[in-house]
Amino acid sequence: MITFDSGLFHLYNKEISYVMGVNSHGVLEHLYFGKKLSGFHRKNFISSPDYNFQFFDGKEFVNPDPFYENVTQTEVGSFLRNDLKPASFILEQDGDDLTDFRFAEYRIGGRNLYGEGIPHVRRLDQEDALEIICKDARRNVELHLFYTLLEENVLIRSAKIVNRTDGEIVLKRAMSLTLDLPFEEQRLIHFPGQWANERNFCKEELAFGLKTMYSLEGRSGHLENPFFILQSRDTTEDWGSCMSFNLVYSGNFKNEIFVSSFRGMRVNVGINDDNFSFRLKPGESFSAPEAILCFSDRGLNDLSATNHRLIQRHILPEKSQMRKPLLFNSWEGAGMDFSTESILRYMKKSKKIGTELFVLDDGWFSSRNDDRHGLGDWTVNRKKIDLKKIADACHELGMKFGIWIEPEMVNADTSLFRDENLIAHPDLEKRFSRNQLVLDFSNEAIVDGVLHQIADALKDIPVDYIKYDMNRYLGDVFSFHTAQGEIFHRYVLGVYRFMDGLLKIFPDILLENCASGGGRFDLGMLYFSPQIWCSDETDPVRRLYIQYGTSYGYPLQTMASHVSKAKGIYESKAMIAFFGTYGYEMNPTLLTKEEIEILRKFNRLYRLYHEDVIENGRFYRLSSPFESDFGAFMCVNDSKSTAIVLFHNLRKETNQYRFLKLKGLNKNIRYRWRDEIFTGDYLMNVGLNLSYFMEQNSTQIFLIRKTVKGGEK
Ligand code: DGJ
Repeated sequence: MITFDSGLFHLYNKEISYVMGVNSHGVLEHLYFGKKLSGFHRKNFISSPDYNFQFFDGKEFVNPDPFYENVTQTEVGSFLRNDLKPASFILEQDGDDLTDFRFAEYRIGGRNLYGEGIPHVRRLDQEDALEIICKDARRNVELHLFYTLLEENVLIRSAKIVNRTDGEIVLKRAMSLTLDLPFEEQRLIHFPGQWANERNFCKEELAFGLKTMYSLEGRSGHLENPFFILQSRDTTEDWGSCMSFNLVYSGNFKNEIFVSSFRGMRVNVGINDDNFSFRLKPGESFSAPEAILCFSDRGLNDLSATNHRLIQRHILPEKSQMRKPLLFNSWEGAGMDFSTESILRYMKKSKKIGTELFVLDDGWFSSRNDDRHGLGDWTVNRKKIDLKKIADACHELGMKFGIWIEPEMVNADTSLFRDENLIAHPDLEKRFSRNQLVLDFSNEAIVDGVLHQIADALKDIPVDYIKYDMNRYLGDVFSFHTAQGEIFHRYVLGVYRFMDGLLKIFPDILLENCASGGGRFDLGMLYFSPQIWCSDETDPVRRLYIQYGTSYGYPLQTMASHVSKAKGIYESKAMIAFFGTYGYEMNPTLLTKEEIEILRKFNRLYRLYHEDVIENGRFYRLSSPFESDFGAFMCVNDSKSTAIVLFHNLRKETNQYRFLKLKGLNKNIRYRWRDEIFTGDYLMNVGLNLSYFMEQNSTQIFLIRKTVKGGEK
């Protein structure tokens, strides 16, 4: 519901309320966001503390102007007036940056409409949407703020700037969301990382001043994820209030949290404005990506479940709701060293361990026998392989066939490698990374050219899946085609154009994303590709951390995870990979009988329970490896008849009291675990008895099933 009464907007549903008000200066004040309010007391909604600068006028102390934006919670932070917090928007015209938006009008039902090819939250009921139009105090520029309430505890925000002046304006900052709140010792949880070590859980106290999390890589990147959480001081996994923020965008983002000396807090979420200046001619507009705000007063597990549901229902492509095929990828086993015969052998062997989709990774095109060659020249290397024969043989074996591409990149030995096609500064020596440079995807002609090449190379190949890779970030940022301050954003639009075009040419493929592992784990990518290679790290212990951190913001069914040849025993690797999309990545011809037996055992488990329990069930974190010696989590299916639990101890453990309390079961159902029967409430209150000796880094997986006979009381 959205109401507007006596200058106050109240957006609410069963779970949350969001309140704003227009003050006598025409400034849109932010008054409240959190648990649903049944009613509110207008008088108490003063968004500024009592802040009276008093001056002595000779007779008495007076306050000539009691309104100071700097101590007011606003929906839009102004720039160069008296709001000293980080701005929401900065517009320049003729060298003048002062920006100050005031409320003008509103429309219930309005929503920013993004084209199909631009990632956004889809399949919405349009009813609970609000559009507020503000105008710049001095220039004929409009700001449209969009608010859409979604399901129980989700609010989508975005903004559009429209230039209605006669001249050009330069947009220098355009935040998708500004949220002002009182500072109440909230804790920040964010997810920094690096290659092969993505999305670490990092919980921090906030203090006065500015905390910024950002990317400047031209992609969301390994170093920080756009997703973050603010929680009340004592919130736990299952108790207390918390809110999360995410951006439906794959390029440079900026998340700011500013705690003012007046104990106010401003959160800004949007495109990173470092090297961002977007020119808008008269009549042109700029739409900021959508930001997603979720709230829970039931702890972090509930907040994650909200994010998971939202992504599954409203971000992932509709077709991705089907069961994930068990995937085999050639990379870790073969690298680029393969032939038609060796791949055929791989396929036959991988079929024996239950593969449903076989993927030929890097190395199938041009002169690509190592990473110094071939990128940019998308023609099948016929001297090396017969791709059609491989794809057909794959289908004959009853498996789907998939292939790898890396369209944004170029090696020096291909014809696309010319200054005018590159993101590279012509005055500087070329800085390669993994022997490659980045093509200028801010130029649509280059995007379309590469797309055309790849489509042509694959036109006779029956492909069911494509892995879209991206193995370096943007550096020496310069384009012959695009103005400096627009490169990053237009580059991302180019990537979206490519993906959209690819899916139009191959409408039935499953698209998987990858950027040196999880360097683009974001909602923009998930809009096109329902799964993302979570990390190049497949060692089970490190993977446990990576998947645990990722689970705060993203559902398990999006985390591509494989049992690989990396160190560690196959059993542990399979258990961790099981809590993702599940697949294999090794040389299958070297597997021993025992290893095949282990993988077959997991394959049976996969076929019986993966879709119902892992992909579509509810996920709970039980114990954090970041904060304790144990990593544990579980999934329960919708009917609560089956749960699968993972437990990992990081140290060698003696036999001492150790009970793992489960979550989300039906307390009245009788479950079987290790040939014994327990009620749900027993398993949730007493727990699984794990009071036995454990070797260091041993992983265990438990299947908990409702008893079949006389199960339910
Ligand atoms: C990096 C990816 O993360 C790997 O899985 C693999 O696809 C290689 N690129 C191929 O070059």
